[in-house]
Amino acid sequence: MYKTLIFCYCYALFTVVSFATPVSNAIPSFGFSGAMLSVPRSSIAATSVGHLAFFAGGRLENGSYTDVVDIYNHKTKQWSVSHLSVSRSEVGAGSLANRYALFAGGLDDAFKPLSLVDVYDTRSGTWSAINLSTPRGAPRVMDLGKVAAIIGGLTGDLQYLSNEVDLINADLAISNTSLGFKYPQFGLAMSEPQCGVGMYTSGYQNNRPGERFNDFQPSNRTTVFRASSLPVDINTGAPPFPSPRWGAGGAATNGIFAVGGGHVFGSATNPPLVSVTDRVDIFNARTGKWDGNPLKLSVPRDYPIAEALGPYIIFASGTDKTKEFDILDTRTLSFVNSIKDNRHHPALYILRSDAASVVVDDCLMIVAGGLVYQGRNATASVEMFDACQP
Ligand SMILES: *[C@@H]1O[C@H](CO)[C@@H](O)[C@H](O)[C@H]1NC(C)=O
Ligand SMILES: *[C@@H]1O[C@H](CO)[C@@H](O)[C@H](O)[C@H]1NC(C)=O
Ligand SMILES: *[C@@H]1O[C@H](CO)[C@@H](O)[C@H](O)[C@H]1NC(C)=O
Ligand SMILES: *[C@@H]1O[C@H](CO)[C@@H](O)[C@H](O)[C@H]1NC(C)=O
Ligand SMILES: *[C@@H]1O[C@H](CO)[C@@H](O)[C@H](O)[C@H]1NC(C)=O
Repeated sequence: MYKTLIFCYCYALFTVVSFATPVSNAIPSFGFSGAMLSVPRSSIAATSVGHLAFFAGGRLENGSYTDVVDIYNHKTKQWSVSHLSVSRSEVGAGSLANRYALFAGGLDDAFKPLSLVDVYDTRSGTWSAINLSTPRGAPRVMDLGKVAAIIGGLTGDLQYLSNEVDLINADLAISNTSLGFKYPQFGLAMSEPQCGVGMYTSGYQNNRPGERFNDFQPSNRTTVFRASSLPVDINTGAPPFPSPRWGAGGAATNGIFAVGGGHVFGSATNPPLVSVTDRVDIFNARTGKWDGNPLKLSVPRDYPIAEALGPYIIFASGTDKTKEFDILDTRTLSFVNSIKDNRHHPALYILRSDAASVVVDDCLMIVAGGLVYQGRNATASVEMFDACQP
């Protein structure tokens, strides 16, 4: 049982409480089970709060958007269905204060960005709504514990990106600020809620918004959010992402932020012009620096699933469509799946892209929906990888 191995760490020297026992270089053992969403779909917004996992909205196979929210209760093992107040896709999902599930912004059926945030209170089981300062699609949601940050997104079509950050506190009061970049970044958000630390990095920026020819460039800007005490400290000048790229996946646990895979530009002398990478960059929140020694996934992956589960960060799926997981042990900074032995390696049963993923109770990883058959069909299939038992 890995749970006893986790450091109660949180970046403050005086709160280091370690229950560490010797680190075994072993893959956690996973139980496997399957389930079905109530409606097959892709581009689902997923988040978890306590025992509950939420799979909200998304795109149906015929292209329409849905308001359906499938909810899984890990305690009772029951699924139920609820609804967003408006059908939409490209919703930003996240948790807040270990109580609320947030479904922020998105695009409606006419591809219009929305400012609507649907809020589900897991204590009362009720929905309410608030508005972002500006409408946007696919905003990134970062749970900083006492505050959720809703960052950037698409303000119209793909070329117009947002600099806005809305901050929602545990009383559901909302305020806004701006990252203030000349060319806004459409990045990746990761956080460790119990530590109140998050990062926005990587992705792309458009250096010629509104002009006839866009100039999309991979972004190396890194912004670190700290909400250990309020107000939120937003440092837009954190050390730049070492290998600018877009389409990466990332997650944080144990003071380690890992960003893996994505697309990189080649050069005229080093074709192809765009390729998928196996590179994994590590940011250590203890030192506030990127590690000079990037790691490697077992295969190049783009838009991979990336989830923190205990001290592990799991990468799955992506272009090369391997079913295998890459499992990073943040205690040793090594991939435990590279061990060559006969043990069963956890793997997806169904190859899929654009799937939703979430971890419940820090030990159950759920992968839901997405596209199958070379992206032609939407699936309702759900795969659950359970590392909760010793
Ligand atoms: C897509 O399918 C849903 C569910 O079957 C249906 O309600 C909706 O009208 C369909 N949309 C289109 C554009 O056919
Ligand atoms: C959010 O915005 C909508 C339309 O822009 C408005 O009708 C609604 O009253 C607003 N809700 C809140 C809680 O401010
Ligand atoms: C907050 O949002 C309002 C409404 O969109 C906007 O006018 C204002 O400039 C924003 N404030 C900052 C600091 O971005
Ligand atoms: C970050 O990107 C900018 C603009 O693309 C570039 O000028 C700068 O050299 C990059 N910095 C690093 C450390 O890669
Ligand atoms: C995949 O989608 C196509 C087009 O919508 C449909 O004709 C086909 O039956 C689907 N295949 C499966 C296996 O559902």
